[in-house]
Amino acid sequence: MDALQALRERRSIRKYETTALDRETVEKVVDTGRLAATGRGVEPWEFVVVSEAKMRKTLAEICEYGKFIAEAPICIVVLCRDTKYYLEDGSAATQNMLVAACALGLGSCWVAGDKKPYADKIVKLVGAPKDYKLVSLVALGYPAAGQPPQKAKRKLDDVLHWEQF
Ligand SMILES: Cc1cc2nc3c(=O)[nH]c(=O)nc-3n(C[C@H](O)[C@H](O)[C@H](O)COP(=O)(O)O)c2cc1C
Repeated sequence: MDALQALRERRSIRKYETTALDRETVEKVVDTGRLAATGRGVEPWEFVVVSEAKMRKTLAEICEYGKFIAEAPICIVVLCRDTKYYLEDGSAATQNMLVAACALGLGSCWVAGDKKPYADKIVKLVGAPKDYKLVSLVALGYPAAGQPPQKAKRKLDDVLHWEQF
């Protein structure tokens, strides 16, 4: 799948098959995260891949809108050092991984993340140094059958302004 198609077809998937993902596939996804644009070339990110069911269940219990993490075979926890552009950097890395997942025929969903009251709890739970920031958790797996249709988005005409707002 080419990049434009993956960007157009990507959508949040919240129901997954139980099929495990091989290490190579997960590494391909994370590899696109570490290649994201980054303010000042800092690359403050770290990616913790959680496959273990008990840990996924714990993460799912903590994340109010991420209960499906318990069923997704993989959850990638995106953390950043507390730098000036950590949130932009971690978000760029997260989006890269969502698009890469789609290109590989996988489903994914961004789960917050930064600003949530549970952020520090998750930083601690995955064993990251306490000055790290939780940016997102990415649930990952093969999409289960019967997904809801892709969400309607604002049209190009509605959001595009040439020269002036
Ligand atoms: C910063 C951010 C936080 C999000 N947090 C959650 C979340 O906690 N749980 C969830 O199910 N989806 C979450 N999402 C996914 C959005 O709900 C989803 O991207 C949006 O509804 C648009 O749908 P689409 O991804 O299918 O295009 C988050 C997305 C972003 C960018």
